[in-house]
Amino acid sequence: MDRLKTSARLMIVSDLDHTMVDHHDSENLSLLRFNALWESNYRHDSLLVFSTGRSPVLYKKLREEKPLLTPDITIMSVGTEITYGNLMVPDDGWVEILNQKWDRSIVIEESKKFPELTLQAETELRPHKVSFYVEKDKAQAVSKALMERFEKHGLDVKIIYSGGMDLDILPQGAGKGQALAYLLKKFKTEGKLPNNTLVCGDSGNDAELFSIPEVYGVMVSNAQEELLKWHAENAKNNPKIIHATERCAAGIMQAIGHFGLGPNTSPRDIMDFLDCKLENVNPGHEVVKFYLFYERWRRAEVENFEPYLASLKATCDPSGVHIEPTGSEHSLCDGIDGMRSIYGDKQGKQFRVWIDRVLPTQISSNTWLVKLNKWELSGEERKCCKTTVIISSKDAAVPSDGFTWMHVHQTWSEEETNLKDHSSSIIVF
Ligand code: GLC
Ligand code: MG
Repeated sequence: MDRLKTSARLMIVSDLDHTMVDHHDSENLSLLRFNALWESNYRHDSLLVFSTGRSPVLYKKLREEKPLLTPDITIMSVGTEITYGNLMVPDDGWVEILNQKWDRSIVIEESKKFPELTLQAETELRPHKVSFYVEKDKAQAVSKALMERFEKHGLDVKIIYSGGMDLDILPQGAGKGQALAYLLKKFKTEGKLPNNTLVCGDSGNDAELFSIPEVYGVMVSNAQEELLKWHAENAKNNPKIIHATERCAAGIMQAIGHFGLGPNTSPRDIMDFLDCKLENVNPGHEVVKFYLFYERWRRAEVENFEPYLASLKATCDPSGVHIEPTGSEHSLCDGIDGMRSIYGDKQGKQFRVWIDRVLPTQISSNTWLVKLNKWELSGEERKCCKTTVIISSKDAAVPSDGFTWMHVHQTWSEEETNLKDHSSSIIVF
């Protein structure tokens, strides 16, 4: 919350399953495209919020399975749990609000009387969320009967049906929409209301997000029937909401372009970026671009072309040093020379590189210290390096003149790496 000193340029509030994450795309290409766009153009002055139906346990599991970025704010369990930052510090004020007119034991007691309802896994039953599975054709009648029972007990609850199978019971003041409204109110009090907010979703529990005033919204192309129906009945004439023609994260990028919220070309969509003139030059972009080249080089998706290496070397300070996670050191230029021997070593194999939490700090008029987490997925193995890069621009006033890499320091990030033995890994960058 305090990372940005002023209003966020853009705040994206996105659902995960079937919105940010395409479970039909085993290569995660649209997610990786979004990641590169976010880290190169938005991370430094914008906010990323994930809003999921998943509990913290299943959310963390998804992060281990998919190349998801670290959000600034995580809203879990259908808007009943809000946490901040990488450390996921809970918002206790929100919990207080949710306790009003809520009695979890009565909710469970009453729901047990409905044989149509099947309780979900233990991990998904949370202090302010009780969840079941119910067949599509029974959902409406069961919800109505449940509501009547709860009212008799003086409870003020909300029932949400999603994905044609999940039924969630929450306090009336909970839900993804209310959680977002709570956050916006907090930002407003601090004088840091985001300049623009874009909400993104695909299913029933996302509908509330689209009813928050002032926000832009995108229903991804693969949105569920229940969300499209809600939209047709409640928000049909709202020009700030679109139904994208692209699936999942590609639909989010489409919406950024449609509403003119900022750049929406992912660096992953630029093939010859060593040549390209960039619309938005900043140190984050420089780092994203390099690691993307590194991935393509090892996958042999760029030509084995000597001028590429020469141009990379030209961006390294001749006395610049790279300290590897193993502790060994070599000059940055030697590191580039070392890339010759690994050209195409991942061709036709599962190999992806993405970077997360790129945070540039300006340390002098033309020098930045850029911290980031560099992830590498190779086959089944996934590992993370905490990376610090010092880069400077030749001319502070015109950074588009190009950056010079002065120093790279990497250490293994144990907490974020599911790896027992690093000894066999080759690290060039
Ligand atoms: C996620 C949660 C589940 C919930 C569903 C819909 O799948 O794990 O508990 O019912 O979202 O909100
Ligand atoms: Mg979803």
